[in-house]
Amino acid sequence: MAIERTLSIIKPDAVAKNVIGQIYSRFEAAGLKVVAARMAHLSRAEAEGFYAVHKARPFFNDLVEFMISGPVMIQALEGENAIAKNRELMGATNPKEAAAGTIRADFAESIDANAVHGSDAPETAANEIAYFFPASQVFSR
Ligand code: TYD
Repeated sequence: MAIERTLSIIKPDAVAKNVIGQIYSRFEAAGLKVVAARMAHLSRAEAEGFYAVHKARPFFNDLVEFMISGPVMIQALEGENAIAKNRELMGATNPKEAAAGTIRADFAESIDANAVHGSDAPETAANEIAYFFPASQVFSR
């Protein structure tokens, strides 16, 4: 299976809940390695740029407001099938529909405060990693 990279964000609700370590443990237990990481309080422009694909959606403004409401933890994860594996760990977008034992089932309250972001395809993963990390700050192991 291919070694992939994916972009993960621990969103403001989960950072405020003090579960960064618990979420990292799940990545590591699933064989995903953290190859880049930084904490940031996103500017409105950064959040709008990151979610530009959702600009026309009715939830866009609320999503941006939420993403800039507090600090986030941003990481690139590397491993076999990393994109799908991270999505599996995350669970469904709406935590009420997320499978038991997933990050969103365990740590998220609602569809708009849903604890984590994860890239959904190889091309978006590459673009999203580059959006936050210059190549020199990604440390493949
Ligand atoms: P999306 O890319 O569909 O989900 P995912 O994060 O699982 O890839 O949507 C991006 C974010 O937009 C989602 O994490 C939370 C927010 N969102 C809402 O607030 N309301 C909605 O109805 C949807 C679909 C998304």
